[in-house]
Amino acid sequence: MPLVFVLGGPNLNLLGQREPETYGRTTLADIERRCREVAARLGLGLDFRQTNCEGELVSWIQEARGRAQALVLNAAAYTHTSIAVLDALRAFDGMVVEVHLSNIFRREPFRHHSYVSLAADGVICGFGPYGYELALYAVAHRLGGDAGPQTADQR
Ligand code: DQA
Repeated sequence: MPLVFVLGGPNLNLLGQREPETYGRTTLADIERRCREVAARLGLGLDFRQTNCEGELVSWIQEARGRAQALVLNAAAYTHTSIAVLDALRAFDGMVVEVHLSNIFRREPFRHHSYVSLAADGVICGFGPYGYELALYAVAHRLGGDAGPQTADQR
């Protein structure tokens, strides 16, 4: 079974309480539960983690090397600042999907640049918690599993 690491960066542990007008009321535990359901349906193994520490995030991305087929990453604020996260992603040879709950391009200019995007296969932002499900569908689709509706290139 292909393994997907779903990794979260700083302050995502406060989802549900933190700036609900921007991030909604869904908690990280709710997102994890939903990811587990969808991953099981898609035949994907899931390792779901969150950290407030940049170095820990880098270590987890390194750990994914040779273990995980894909990374779904919401690096939160480190998205916009961390060359260390970018370098770690560049050393990972599986699929990388960047996720943000909010539409970072509709927000402050400092959120418009993403180091993560430089190493990501694709980016999903602005769909709230549903973005994580979309990311898992994209992973299953890329890995050749049953990921819902076919796209033109598969027909
Ligand atoms: C975020 C967007 C980032 O700009 C912000 O620093 C976050 C969350 C999102 O999911 O919308 O912490 O990654």
